[in-house]
Amino acid sequence: MDTKVKNIDVNNIDYDIIAQAGEVLRDGGLVAFPTETVYGLGANALDESASAKIYQAKGRPSDNPLIIHICEISALDKIVDEIPETAQKLVQKFWPGPLTMIFKKKSIVPYGITGGLDTVAVRMPDSKIALELIKAGGGYIAAPSANTSGRPSPTKATHVIEDLSGKVEMVIDGGMVGIGIESTIVDVTSEIPMILRPGYINKEMLEEIVGKVSIDRTILFDGEIEEKPKAPGMKYKHYAPTGDLTIIEGKQENVVSKTNKLVSEKVRDGYKTGVICTDETLKYYNDGIVKSIGTREDELSISHNLYDVLRQFDDLGVEYIFSESFEHGSMGMAIMNRLLKAAGHKIIHV
Ligand code: TXA
Ligand code: MG
Repeated sequence: MDTKVKNIDVNNIDYDIIAQAGEVLRDGGLVAFPTETVYGLGANALDESASAKIYQAKGRPSDNPLIIHICEISALDKIVDEIPETAQKLVQKFWPGPLTMIFKKKSIVPYGITGGLDTVAVRMPDSKIALELIKAGGGYIAAPSANTSGRPSPTKATHVIEDLSGKVEMVIDGGMVGIGIESTIVDVTSEIPMILRPGYINKEMLEEIVGKVSIDRTILFDGEIEEKPKAPGMKYKHYAPTGDLTIIEGKQENVVSKTNKLVSEKVRDGYKTGVICTDETLKYYNDGIVKSIGTREDELSISHNLYDVLRQFDDLGVEYIFSESFEHGSMGMAIMNRLLKAAGHKIIHV
């Protein structure tokens, strides 16, 4: 298949391209598009055979359900059975935005996109390009991250093209996304809402609106508990670069000296080795390929660059990567959740 790549300037949207992309979606095809979190791979959510193509293009296990993207709040009624009061409040506060909620589904939602579950994940993204495309595509667009399963999620159109060229009808290039990691997922079917995947919208922000919020225990541990995560996708090794990634955690000076030691050993043994650090520590590393991921003063700079830096190391053929660790501050839980998964939970405490 010949994949068309179309540029859209968010400040001057070309509605001809949106119309073409909408037609591809209504005809049962696939279109990758930017959102404020990561690029998504869209298909008509209410057409089971269209959504099946998503699984094929990504190599995604069929038990891993998809998020339905909508472009107006009123679209919820057609696909979800019940909108609990907590959900109504969260919708009012955070939509459009990087928050996905799990509801009981109506029968119009095919089991093929929910991994056989009676619930469905829904989100209204805060991206003008995405919202216009969803509207043009019929209003209900299933969209996982637009990467090959297991690879870091795409934050630029070039990442999508790398993974999916020849497998999708169209890629809309709207530039680099803002947040850079996937939306927060909250299950609102239980009385106390539960975070199933951490993201930019954190527990404190949610609790300010709805009172107590719990967190799926499996998110908080280093992958050593038996329990299965409640979001099926969270059980897979994910976001992983090809190189072997290890996180080094501890006081800054200890992290720097341990990392320098490990890197020089690997370099001496002939391995291509990389370091993920921050603007604050860049000057302390003296061996291997050193990349700053952002500044500790601004967590968003770190989430914004995380997946891109992992992919850059892949492009360079780096075999070992050592990364600094991050505070469990407001977005820190989400950043560390992705980094730990990318590292297969390999962490050295110094
Ligand atoms: O930011 C995002 O959410 C991006 C953009 C494109 O919107 N999308 C995204 O989709 O990250 P994906 O498919 O990569 O991740 C969806 C996650 C998976 O972990 C999946 O298991 C979970 O949502 N999920 C979907 N439906 C669910 C359900 N009914 N119950 C529990 N978890 C669900
Ligand atoms: Mg994904």
